[in-house]
Amino acid sequence: MTAVEIRRANPADLPALGRLGALLARQHHGYDPRRYFLPEPVEEEYVRFYQAQLARPDAALLVAEVAGRVVGFAFVRVEPAEFLSLLSASGWIHDLFVEESARGMGVGRRLLDAAVEELCRLRASAVMLSVAPQNEPARRLFLGRGFRFALQEMRLDPGTGPG
Ligand SMILES: CC(C)(COP(=O)(O)OP(=O)(O)OC[C@H]1O[C@@H](n2cnc3c(N)ncnc32)[C@H](O)[C@@H]1OP(=O)(O)O)[C@@H](O)C(=O)NCCC(=O)NCCS
Repeated sequence: MTAVEIRRANPADLPALGRLGALLARQHHGYDPRRYFLPEPVEEEYVRFYQAQLARPDAALLVAEVAGRVVGFAFVRVEPAEFLSLLSASGWIHDLFVEESARGMGVGRRLLDAAVEELCRLRASAVMLSVAPQNEPARRLFLGRGFRFALQEMRLDPGTGPG
């Protein structure tokens, strides 16, 4: 069995985080380019973004390492209450990604469980995440770990509907 280490990310992981974050962004842009814009240049934008998150006390970045190589990551943050969506302050799993060569070996499940633990450490009383309707592997992973559907986002781009 392959040994996987889940640990907190540090600044030396930023190039890997930029690479994996960009793959996740491209995956979603590929699902629906109107809904998911691509910040350009993608890798650099994600390095900059995650660098800022590393310094925040309300956020955590985790990496999964196999044989000294980062193959996956999770990014979580506690977000304030949102009046409009009637959502109390919650811990969010914003990003979760395992590179293709390391999938199907339990890495995603380990990262997800560690992400929930981090949010509990940050005193989140609920854990939220969003998942694209096309993303069957992720939906199954989340449902299998006890998540339930709470909200479905819908979108119309005027001029593209049935008129
Ligand atoms: C979703 C993802 C994180 C799963 O990671 P993984 O390491 O392959 O998952 P695991 O090996 O830990 O599998 C855990 C569970 O996920 C589900 N799953 C994983 N791959 C699946 C697939 N190809 N088809 C259906 N279900 C799948 C299963 O329920 C699986 O449990 P099981 O092995 O008991 O059947 C990974 O596919 C990924 O990084 N995808 C791209 C990024 C992404 O979509 N992130 C989530 C959106 S934010």
